[in-house]
Amino acid sequence: MYMQQVEAIADLRAVVRRWRQAGESIAFVPTMGNLHAGHLDLVGRAQELADRTVVSIFVNPLQFGPREDYAAYPRTLERDRTLLQSAGADLLFAPSVQAIYPQGQQDVTRVHVPRLSDILCGAFRPGHFDGVATIVAKLFNLVQPDCAIFGKKDYQQWRLIESMVSELAIPVSIVGAPTVREQDGLAMSSRNQYLSSEERRRAPELYKCLSGIRDRLVEGDRNFGYMQAQAMQQLESLGFRPQYVEIRNPWNLASPDADTREYVVLAAAYLGQTRLIDNLEILPT
Ligand code: PAF
Repeated sequence: MYMQQVEAIADLRAVVRRWRQAGESIAFVPTMGNLHAGHLDLVGRAQELADRTVVSIFVNPLQFGPREDYAAYPRTLERDRTLLQSAGADLLFAPSVQAIYPQGQQDVTRVHVPRLSDILCGAFRPGHFDGVATIVAKLFNLVQPDCAIFGKKDYQQWRLIESMVSELAIPVSIVGAPTVREQDGLAMSSRNQYLSSEERRRAPELYKCLSGIRDRLVEGDRNFGYMQAQAMQQLESLGFRPQYVEIRNPWNLASPDADTREYVVLAAAYLGQTRLIDNLEILPT
């Protein structure tokens, strides 16, 4: 099947309008490109959920801090297009920065999701989640999908988008998809390619560290603070520069109390120049 590609908002709207007139449903996968197997898994899920699958590729300047990797972020549109075509996506929306922010980035109307924006990764990346919520709200208005699929690798992002659509009554159902991992456990990420071969060899230790906490929680250990501090030390001794290792309530990302029975363990750590994030859900079966 032929995949269409559009850059202009008017062209996107025209395609979506035709599908809607034909009574077709739409699933949406927003990405920043440089696609890997994790993204293609999201596209596969989208295809099961709706008649049409739209994928966006847009490296969103609003969600990068001044010292972050916006300029260096890998842009591989030709390769991504081939992958999406083979994966069976119906439409690739790849707008320019000018098309999305014609008024510039300073004075953009922004979406802020309280409670979830400034904790965990948000505490280390000021403004990041406002940038994410703003672009996702705008993409939802442009694509007008029935559902949108987000990887749970970006757990905080997924919960924040759920909260945003609920509070703003945006009629899009949000689907969280399990993290896709390399064979050695490393969560797939576009940023993994920044790792040197020596760092790549060590990177799965982050997942092992989270797995250790999961095992202790399953065994009944409730010394949350101690487990977190120990994991931070363990990561440091392995050459990481951890920002946080936190055990949280998976629904609202609040700190757990004695009655909490479901958890998510989340971590962010630098390895060399690369910032890695990962998490594990612990939900009773
Ligand atoms: O997860 C991402 O790739 C981005 O944060 C998203 C959701 C596409 C918004 O730019």
